[in-house]
This record gives sequence, structure tokens and C-alpha cells, in this order.
Amino acid sequence: MTLSHSKSESFRIFDAISDRYDLINTVLSGGLHYIWRKALRSALPQRFDSLRVLDLATGTADVALEVCKDERVQSVRGLDMSKGMIAYGERKVEKKGLSSKIELLVGDAQHIPFADESFEATTMSFGIRNVPDVVACLRESHRVLRSGGRCLVLEFALPRSRIIRSFHLFYLRNVLPLLGRWLSGHQTAYTYLNETIEEFPYGEDFLALMRRAGFKQPQFKSLTGGIVHLYWGDKT
Ligand SMILES: C[S@@+](CC[C@H](N)C(=O)[O-])C[C@H]1O[C@@H](n2cnc3c(N)ncnc32)[C@H](O)[C@@H]1O
Repeated sequence: MTLSHSKSESFRIFDAISDRYDLINTVLSGGLHYIWRKALRSALPQRFDSLRVLDLATGTADVALEVCKDERVQSVRGLDMSKGMIAYGERKVEKKGLSSKIELLVGDAQHIPFADESFEATTMSFGIRNVPDVVACLRESHRVLRSGGRCLVLEFALPRSRIIRSFHLFYLRNVLPLLGRWLSGHQTAYTYLNETIEEFPYGEDFLALMRRAGFKQPQFKSLTGGIVHLYWGDKT
């Protein structure tokens, strides 16, 4: 499949829709994104008493804010290529009074600007699909984790059940681009979303990429009938 936008430029789409991103997310997912983020928080590693978290492709900081509900979280660094998304996220962080705990930075998840072994957990929610070199990004996650640390990835997938899958594909191809165009005022942002969901490796194929990046026994869990997967891998 040829994508309507290059992945290396995808952050520009997010720049263009940053003010409406949260609302569109809630409408298009029917509010399910709250449940998916909660599942990610529940999977933070239990073996540490305190956690430093790096949230890649942090966008408007929803995951950064969510993980702070775990009292063990001492600090969160959020990294994203889109200045617009970061600026919007910073306003949310400030409103919640969490500016001393959460710091957002502009940067590329394929070249993480932090030293080796700086974090107990890395998170990435609906971001890795947008990154041109997925293995490079996962390797970087592995590099910045300390031993025993965990990489957590939330990403769209396609359901295994044929019936659910055909309904879901109908939604992705026909309803989502129309609704997305209407809500965002952007002609192609949500066509890009459905294209990237359909072409992106999921399930065992994604676990194979995690293994290539150095995670020994990565696992995944299907959420909401398989339309989203939560992946995790520990650094040994
Ligand atoms: C679908 S949004 C997800 C935002 C947030 N994690 C969430 O769950 O709502 C994808 C984000 O990936 C960011 N992005 C795209 N390529 C990136 C890269 N190479 N490095 C870091 N962020 C990137 C975009 O700017 C955008 O904010």
C-alpha cells in the first residue's frame, strides 16, 4: 500500500490538527482510548518501587498524565516531533499541576536524547505506526531502559474474528476518514490513519520486531476484540 503521506513527515499532520486531536480521538474511538491507556498503566513494571518513565510520541501528553496516577512514578519525560502537540500537552500538564513531574520535549523517537539506562519504563501509545524505522525506535527504547525495565507499546491491530474484522475494516475505510475530515478540517489526516493501521505489522509480527530490537520474551494482549494490542517487553 502506498501511503498518502510519508511517515517521516507525519508529525506535520499532527501539528495541523493538534488543537482538535483530543476531541477527535474521543469521538473516533467512542471513548475507548481511556480504557486502553488504563490498561497500559496497569502493565507498568511491578519490580521497582519508583519509576522514571519515558513516553515516546507523547502527543498531547495523555499517557504522561495517565501514568502519573501510579504513585511510584517520580518523573515522566514525553518526547514528540510535533511542536503543536507538545504545546497543547504542556497546557494540560500545567492545568493538572504536574509541571514539576512531567517534562515534554520535541524530539525523534528513533534518536532518543537520553543516556543509556535512564528509565524503568518506556511507553508509546499509537505512535510507533508513524515512525519510519520501527526497529531503530525499539532499539532506542531498549538502550535507555535499565535492566529489568519494561517497554510498553499500544497500537492498533486488526481483529482475528472475520466478522468483527470486516465490520472494523468498513469503519476504518469508510466512516473514519469521513468523520475525521469533518472534525479536523484536514483533508487527508484520517485517510493516513486508516492506511497506516492496515499496513502496520501486529501480533506475532510485531513481537518479532521487538525481539530484533533486543527484547527477549515480548508478549501482547488483545484489547476491545483485537482492534488494539498492548505489547510489552522487559530488558534482561
Ligand atoms: C496518534 S499520535 C499519538 C499521541 C499520543 N501518544 C496518544 O496516545 O494520544 C502520534 C504522535 O506521534 C508523533 N510522531 C510521529 N513521528 C514521530 C517520531 N519519529 N518521533 C516522535 N514522535 C513522533 C506525532 O507527532 C504524534 O503526536
